[in-house]
Amino acid sequence: MTPAIPLSEVVGRLEQDFPSVPSPLEAFASLVPQIAAVQSVPLRDFVLDSFWERGGGLMVRNGNLVAGVCTTVFLTPELVSFLRTRDARRWLVFTHHPLDMESTGRGFLAPAVEWFQALQDLEVSIISCHVPLDIHPEISTSRALARRLGVVAEDTFWGYADGQIGVVGPSPVADVDGLCRHVRRELAVDWLQLHRHGGAARRLAVVAGAADHPEVLEQACDLGCDTFIAGEWYPRFIGISPNDRAWAKEQRRMLKTLAATLPMTLVGASHYSTEAAVMVADMPAYFAQLGLPTIFCPQNDPWR
Ligand SMILES: [Fe+2]
Ligand SMILES: [Fe+2]
Repeated sequence: MTPAIPLSEVVGRLEQDFPSVPSPLEAFASLVPQIAAVQSVPLRDFVLDSFWERGGGLMVRNGNLVAGVCTTVFLTPELVSFLRTRDARRWLVFTHHPLDMESTGRGFLAPAVEWFQALQDLEVSIISCHVPLDIHPEISTSRALARRLGVVAEDTFWGYADGQIGVVGPSPVADVDGLCRHVRRELAVDWLQLHRHGGAARRLAVVAGAADHPEVLEQACDLGCDTFIAGEWYPRFIGISPNDRAWAKEQRRMLKTLAATLPMTLVGASHYSTEAAVMVADMPAYFAQLGLPTIFCPQNDPWR
C-alpha cells in the first residue's frame, strides 16, 4: 500500500507546475457561481474561498492526506460510486472542469449536495486544473490529444494567457475518410461533428475540448491547415436558462455558417474524449513521479 502524502505538498507541486491564471482569464471563475445560482445548488457551502475567487486550484478540502489520485474530465455523478467501489479513501480528484457537463443536454451542471457529502465521507478532496492544463507547454490537453492521434506537433496557435492552446502538425492519415476512422477508433467515439472540405487531410490543427471561436478556426486556416480536429467546433448543448439557450443556438448558427466559408475540414470528436487523453496518459505519469498511484474515471457515452 502506498503511504499517503500531505495534501498541501501535492497542491504545492501542482500550483508550481501549473500556475493559475488571473480570474478574468479563467471561465469558471464566473461560470461556477452562475451555474450554482441558476440551478439553486449551494456550491458555496462546499468549496474553498480561494477557489470561489479564482475558479481553479484546490476546490474542496476533505482531510489533509492523499493516498492516490483519480483523474477525470468532468465532475460526473458516477464519480462517487467509482471511488466507493475502489475503496478510494483519501484520494484526490484531479479534474479538468470543476463542474459536470451534458454536451447534448443542459450544458454545465453543478454536482448535487449529496455528491459533495459522499466525498466528505470518503475524505476525498478535489483540485481543478482548467486553463493551466490547456496552455502548459508540455503536459496539456491538446498536446496529449495530438500524441494520442499520432500527430507530431510542429507549431502552436491560439495564444491564451501566457501560453498556446492549439498544436499543428502533419496528419497521420492523408485522407479525410481514413483520418475520421482513425479518430473514431483511437478516441472510442462512434459519431463525429463533421464538416467536410475536400478529401485530403495533410496538415492538422488539434484543439482538445471546445474550439467554438471563429478566430481560432481562422488562425488554423492561416497556418495552412486543411483539417481541424477539436472536441467540439460548435456547441451541441441546449442549455438551461433562456440566456444559455439563446447563446448556444446563435453560436451553432454562426459557426456552421462560418464553416461553409473556410477551406478546411472540421472534425469534432466530443469534449470528453478529446480532453480525456491528458488524464489517461500524461497526468498518471506526472503523479507517479510524486509517488502517487492514479486511476482514471471514464465516462460511458462521450457525447452525453
Ligand atoms: Fe480544456
Ligand atoms: Fe473543456
